[in-house]
Amino acid sequence: MPNTILVGAQWGDEGKGKIIDVLTEEADVVVRTQGGNNAGHTVYIGSQKYVLHLVPSGILRPGKTCIIGNGVVVDPTSLVEEIKGLMKLKVKVDGNLLLSETAHVVFPYHRVLDEQREILKGKNKIGTTKRGIGPAYGDKAARTGLRVIDLVNPHRFELLLKMRLKENNEILKALGAKPLSYKKVLAEYREAGDFLEPFVTNTVVWLHESAQRKEKILFEGAQGTFLDIDHGTYPFVTSSNTTSGGACTGSGVPPNRMDRVVGVMKAYTTRVGEGPLPTEDPFIADMLHAMGREFGATTGRARRCGWFDSVATRHATMVNGIDELASTNVDGLDTLESIKVCTGYRLGAKTYDYIPNDIEIFSKCQPVYVEFPGWQTPTHEIKSWKQMPAKAKAYLKAISELTGARLKIASVGPAREQTLFL
Ligand code: GDP
Ligand code: IMO
Ligand code: MG
Repeated sequence: MPNTILVGAQWGDEGKGKIIDVLTEEADVVVRTQGGNNAGHTVYIGSQKYVLHLVPSGILRPGKTCIIGNGVVVDPTSLVEEIKGLMKLKVKVDGNLLLSETAHVVFPYHRVLDEQREILKGKNKIGTTKRGIGPAYGDKAARTGLRVIDLVNPHRFELLLKMRLKENNEILKALGAKPLSYKKVLAEYREAGDFLEPFVTNTVVWLHESAQRKEKILFEGAQGTFLDIDHGTYPFVTSSNTTSGGACTGSGVPPNRMDRVVGVMKAYTTRVGEGPLPTEDPFIADMLHAMGREFGATTGRARRCGWFDSVATRHATMVNGIDELASTNVDGLDTLESIKVCTGYRLGAKTYDYIPNDIEIFSKCQPVYVEFPGWQTPTHEIKSWKQMPAKAKAYLKAISELTGARLKIASVGPAREQTLFL
């Protein structure tokens, strides 16, 4: 397998973790390049469920190296907890996980600011995960952030934290929130810093050496295309580049080293948090929630659900350069008599075959649907594409064609074995 960038082609939670786990079999290295512990990637191995937030999902396959790249924002206490949790589950995390020196650090004041800004926004809130992601990337862009290399340098960290806390405590007080104790934050972060130090390295140099050894690198996207800070439904987005370009800037591996882009999409659509979702439909939401599905892996919130939106996934193909598609959760549609697919939007007399940039226009757009007959057969035990019901094949082929990329994987359940290759 060549160097592969895997991205979410919708609004996140497409099943990236599961597909990463499958593709890791053929890879040597798995890299996270953006986002933080706002991500929740679920992988099942047998009956054991793993939810990864900062650690690449590749960690569950022995013999692979996992990297948290420079483009990620790292909450050290959360990362320590995640690593310890994996160790408790007997997953090896020793020598096979590296953390970039230049990844930015998420602080408690980022989390409080995230929460306070959401409160201030009131009904216009983004519905963030409250993990401090926006404020942490904000500090990075404002050049007031601290990086992992600072975290593991005790003397420098003390001085920088003191300065940063002074400024941020003033902001917190102005917002009506309680200021944070320097002593407490310092103690917590120094402890996490000491724990993480053995993992910390220059991952950019490491990745270049790995590429020279002809190792195969898999880039694990977090969130999804329409949560991208540039290409998403701004301001209802996250604060990083979730699209394929983020894999280069977030790792230091240049574009001419990338060989293919895999887009992961559900056979329907979900979104968690606020913002437009043209195909949202209470019928499909109730059906999926009644099956116990579509509850957030990070916050536990019920995900909003809707029909497959091919306008959105075609846009995703364009901005990511998606070569191959993995369609997940196909089994979620097993019982339906008829399945709708959005092929355009309408607002008044105007029709759109692309996502309008004006968020007010986009939020008023009505979907234009075509209907496909359902297969009404359970698919979760199917072992090969050949065995798929003809109507399921036709549906998946049609949504891939509308999306404009080649369907390579159909997923009919959360487990590794429930993966069909075309
Ligand atoms: P990610 O953030 O993109 O990694 O996705 P999440 O893990 O947040 O959400 C995807 C959910 O769908 C998880 O609960 C997965 O276990 C589950 N999943 C992935 N693929 C399939 C599938 O083909 N069928 C079923 N039933 N569940 C799936
Ligand atoms: P994975 O990697 C789905 C959403 C939040 C909110 C918006 C901004 O599991 O697909 P943030 O906390 O990032 O400032 O929130 O983005 N969001 C996600 N939605 N999956 C995710 O990650 C998400 N990470 C953030 O719900 O709408
Ligand atoms: Mg998720």
